[in-house]
Amino acid sequence: MDEIFKRRSIRQYLDKEVEDEKVEKLLKAGMAAPSAGNEQPWHFIVIKDRKHLDRLSEIHPYASMLKEAPLAVAVCADLNEQKYEGFWVQDCSAAAENILLEAVNLDLGAVWLGVYPAEKRVKDIKEFLELPENVVPLSIISVGYPAGDKPESDRFKPERVHYENW
Ligand SMILES: Cc1cc2nc3c(=O)[nH]c(=O)nc-3n(C[C@H](O)[C@H](O)[C@H](O)COP(=O)(O)O)c2cc1C
Repeated sequence: MDEIFKRRSIRQYLDKEVEDEKVEKLLKAGMAAPSAGNEQPWHFIVIKDRKHLDRLSEIHPYASMLKEAPLAVAVCADLNEQKYEGFWVQDCSAAAENILLEAVNLDLGAVWLGVYPAEKRVKDIKEFLELPENVVPLSIISVGYPAGDKPESDRFKPERVHYENW
């Protein structure tokens, strides 16, 4: 699958909106992810308001690209939806990766901004997004049309592969 290898973190964007149809495709990709016991604990917050994006770029310590990005999607988990405790991190990570790959497929560029488990980021972002008590933000995905190309990065390391035993 080409998208896996083409995907890079894109932090510079054109001054161009992401169409609503594409936003919906990103969200559908997120919700198509596998989850433990099919618990699907995710919620997604779509952020397009310039003032909100600017403010988020100040709240998150490594998110200055949000000042340029036309769109961000916060990937959150409803802890009340858990069937198997603690698996929400993996569920929501799978959803986040699906969004990154779908972004490549749609000629968009995106970058995963880590939130959980950094306590201050979780607290500040939870407050800013007015999340209910039982909802935790896992990550924010910054999205836009890429301002340039980034080469593929070959990270295959045969020495990291073990057969049968370590
Ligand atoms: C859990 C996680 C947290 C990340 N947090 C940030 C972040 O806060 N800010 C940022 O600019 N990039 C962040 N990244 C992107 C990584 O820096 C990037 O994936 C890594 O350098 C590899 O580069 P690539 O995505 O272009 O292949 C994060 C990635 C992951 C998976």
